[in-house]
Amino acid sequence: MKTYPRFAMNSVIPRREFLEKCSALALGIATAVPCFNGCAITGFSFYKIKSNDGKIILEVSQFPELNETGNGIQLDDENSNEEILLLKKSENEFIALSPVCTHLGCSVRRENSFFRCPCHGSTYSLDGKVIRGPAEKQLTIFHTEFSNGNITIYL
Ligand code: FES
Repeated sequence: MKTYPRFAMNSVIPRREFLEKCSALALGIATAVPCFNGCAITGFSFYKIKSNDGKIILEVSQFPELNETGNGIQLDDENSNEEILLLKKSENEFIALSPVCTHLGCSVRRENSFFRCPCHGSTYSLDGKVIRGPAEKQLTIFHTEFSNGNITIYL
């Protein structure tokens, strides 16, 4: 099981870390709180987060899951109630998409190289396109920008 000592409950936050978090907040960079009950049902590590002005800004280096191409995380935005899957497509390219199946709204799960909906079997490519129905529409894609080590997701 992964541990995230920076966010451990009942621990004292070092002054330097406290100041870094304050700086991040001042810049509008979201701080994420990992959930310790394992992966989300989508198969990704799961973080609760709060968007600001319709966007989420993450410092990519804070998420070890995003070190490798093909990996990803799930974000649960407490302000919009959106769930977002953020995948690293290449060194400087990310894709953010909704895990909500466009057929009847179940959450898709990641298989090796595609998403599968457990409800009626729709499958989607990792960039959200329908491979097999009954879903007819692709997964919702959120616009992203990557700059200076930060990823901005527009909701
Ligand atoms: S809800 Fe996903 S295939 Fe029906």
